Amino acid sequence: MSEYLKKITIIKPDDWHVHLRDNEILKKVSQYTAKFYKRAIIMPNLNKPITNCLEAITYRHEILNSMESNNKFDPLMICYLTNETSLEELNLGFIKKIFVGAKLYPYSCTTNSKKGIKNVKNIYHILEMMEKIKMPLLIHGEENDTSIDIYDREAKFIENTLEILRKKFPELKIILEHVTTQDAVSYIEEANSPYLAGTITPHHLMFNRNNMFINGIQPYLYCLPILKRKKHQMALRKAIANGSKNFFLGSDTAPHFHRNKINFFGYAGIFNAPCSFLCYVSVFEEMKALKYLQSFCSENGPKFYNMPINKDTITIVKKPYKVMKKIKIGDNIIVPFLSGKKLDWSIEI
Ligand code: DOR
Ligand code: ZN
Repeated sequence: MSEYLKKITIIKPDDWHVHLRDNEILKKVSQYTAKFYKRAIIMPNLNKPITNCLEAITYRHEILNSMESNNKFDPLMICYLTNETSLEELNLGFIKKIFVGAKLYPYSCTTNSKKGIKNVKNIYHILEMMEKIKMPLLIHGEENDTSIDIYDREAKFIENTLEILRKKFPELKIILEHVTTQDAVSYIEEANSPYLAGTITPHHLMFNRNNMFINGIQPYLYCLPILKRKKHQMALRKAIANGSKNFFLGSDTAPHFHRNKINFFGYAGIFNAPCSFLCYVSVFEEMKALKYLQSFCSENGPKFYNMPINKDTITIVKKPYKVMKKIKIGDNIIVPFLSGKKLDWSIEI
């Protein structure tokens, strides 16, 4: 594929890491993910997390009901692991294809993670079963020990927790979500294993921690794991430009009301669904790596999850696209990633 193409058609992508929330936010945001992506992994960290089959079925219906009826979007549900997760429930949910995986949130590491896991040893019995039934484990890979510097928590998680988990459960399929460091990139590349993959967000590819402080503090670049040094951003960009099969698209689109972003304690999360895919295209173009766009966006993910590759396609054209400034939800607003900015690529309708 030429690097100078004005039009690109690839297999329709999937987003392997999405927060859609519920109620009025869900109704307004789900359409953006459905416009660009055929399937999406739906994160279960609602105010009341999705911890069993019935909750997942109900939530999936709410998601489908939030869209226009002719939409072919397929939400893939994930179970939030707690100390109380029942083996039977998880097993049943996976066999019945209600859940495609389960998510490990270390206790209090991010939004709605207070039901998360304080000590992974407490869920070894669950991980053992997941390994046996080949159920993927999605991990928010940060140590939650506040004595560890926030910029080191991902690297420390790999060293202190992930390495042990992988030794103990060598055939457990693990996705290290939203990788942000050179350490994570090297760890995944060196493992080069069918049991270990990482997702990468557009914001971690496009920005580093300095960008959070240009012209004042920028709450709309605050997410977790936090943006890191430039060398880490470069490592992520290099990983996708190398076409490594162990990485795939996971936008971590995470809408929050403006009033919760701009507060004494501002929430972590970047709502990038209106432009995430177009951002990835720009980064691949900048890296002269458009030949790997399709594998990253549409092939590596389903192969890792053992799912079929989509049959539909998506076409993008080199035509400026202006990201909307905000979306209104009742008396509240949500401000998207790159609000009001122009991108080089747009979707062909
Ligand atoms: O920035 C983030 N926002 N990181 C997460 O891990 C969770 C997400 C959210 O749910 O708001
Ligand atoms: Zn997330």
